[in-house]
Amino acid sequence: MPPKTIALDGPAASGKSTVGSRVADALGYLFFDTGVMYRAVTWTALQRGVEISDEKAVSKIAEEVPIDVRPPSQADGRACDVLVEKKDITWQTRRPEVDANVSAVAAYAGVRTALSEQQRRIGLRGQVVMVGRDIGTVVIPEAELKIYLDASAEERAKRRYEEIIGRGEEADYAEILDKVRKRDHVDSTRDLSPLRPAEDAVIIDSDSLDANQVFEKIMGLCA
Ligand code: DC
Repeated sequence: MPPKTIALDGPAASGKSTVGSRVADALGYLFFDTGVMYRAVTWTALQRGVEISDEKAVSKIAEEVPIDVRPPSQADGRACDVLVEKKDITWQTRRPEVDANVSAVAAYAGVRTALSEQQRRIGLRGQVVMVGRDIGTVVIPEAELKIYLDASAEERAKRRYEEIIGRGEEADYAEILDKVRKRDHVDSTRDLSPLRPAEDAVIIDSDSLDANQVFEKIMGLCA
């Protein structure tokens, strides 16, 4: 029997979503990328002209605006649909202005409490691969399998760079590396639920592993 709930945490661009959705498919589990909820709150705040520095107003959005994460309705590269007030905002959550502000939003206590509660409810239903930063430490500490997928900042920036170039767009490696480092810093030094592996997490360093090898390793842990 595979583990009921799989918690998959790690830094930005470590490949969690790619491998997480493959594992979920292979097991017939729901894939739930919790980062999209923080992105949905950030996008909604920007859209409404709410100052990101206004903790109270941003937290109110997390508490009151209905966010839904569902299996993908289109085969356009998305791992899931992200809906805010029933409107599909999946690709808007990937915009650079969201990237630039989401770490600040994710550091607010009111935001974390509101979103963690919703995530926990979904996670406890089981048959789910949950991807995030604090799933094994805070959201579902009782998860039967906890994985921390790590990779160096240089390797993660390289993957992001190749992904953008692969889409035919322009990219600057040094700039991407700088952004990856800045997000790592904010995510791992914040007071609330900082990014770190749970004590009983299996740590996988993907610097020297390709996506298939990471997938096989995780499937091996699920057997
Ligand atoms: O995985 P991602 O890049 O989509 O995450 C977006 C932001 O949300 C990132 O700054 C970390 C934060 N996050 C978090 O604090 N806790 C989670 N469970 C998931 C994401």
